[in-house]
Amino acid sequence: MTEHVIITTADGVMEIKFNRADKRNALTQPMYGAVADAFAHAAEDKSVRCVVLCAAGDHFSAGNDISDFAGRPAAATNTESQTTRFLRAISTAPKPIVAAVQGNAVGVGTTMLLHCDLVVAATSARLALPFANLGLVPEAASSLLLPHLVGWQRAAEAFMLGDVIDAATAFAWGMVNRVVEQPDMLATAHALAQRLAAKSPSALRHTKALMRGAPEDVAARMKEEGAIFAAQLQSPEAKEAFAAFFEKRKPDFSKFG
Ligand code: COA
Repeated sequence: MTEHVIITTADGVMEIKFNRADKRNALTQPMYGAVADAFAHAAEDKSVRCVVLCAAGDHFSAGNDISDFAGRPAAATNTESQTTRFLRAISTAPKPIVAAVQGNAVGVGTTMLLHCDLVVAATSARLALPFANLGLVPEAASSLLLPHLVGWQRAAEAFMLGDVIDAATAFAWGMVNRVVEQPDMLATAHALAQRLAAKSPSALRHTKALMRGAPEDVAARMKEEGAIFAAQLQSPEAKEAFAAFFEKRKPDFSKFG
């Protein structure tokens, strides 16, 4: 249980809301765990037809909590983290997921969207995948899914340069379905969710499974990424980047080869 995730269900739609606006909804282990549990519940509960994923405040999520990254002991990388549970849950969720994204969506804040079925973005949305800026690598099978979705060069720009993808660009690249004014965002997402909730549930489940194609490829890529990510977390480059974040300065990678 954490007050940083709020789960409500009404009219066949489960809403999962990140609720840590003061930290830009940076995700902690208890938050990942709560969302993984919610997805497990949604999968089993026949009355839940669709999930809406959203966030309180002006930002969807600043990604993984960096103090959690910085404090994670090497040994912990060998045990299953709540992050891994969360990624498995969202990437195998049998029911449709509609995301509502405003403001910054950084790192896993963006990669999780690749596992959603419909994404409604506010005009304020700014997607970013600055893993390399932190000495890290893509996760959530995004190294597989993003080049496939948007093309190699755009994915390289996002992953390697870490440049922000604004709402209009995300729409043009096919990463989001709708761009609306922020006050309309959640209602638009819920309206889409209600439409999905009224459809044949088995037809949607089969459709989603068919669209996924070979889910073992996604699972295998997540495992491969996870091993490299865990090793990179312990690297001097990552430690420099985490220190730089909290010291509010740019990281200096000049001494690394
Ligand atoms: N982990 C831990 N704390 C975070 C965080 C993160 N990923 N992102 C933001 N915070 C905290 C800040 O430390 C700050 O805490 P404080 O008020 O105690 O100093 C608070 O949230 C507000 O952050 P701030 O940077 O002042 O907000 P902003 O609106 O100016 O900028 C972001 C928003 C998202 C652009 C900026 O916070 C950011 O770049 N965050 C890091 C994103 C990131 O690299 N994530 C990991 C990706 S793998």
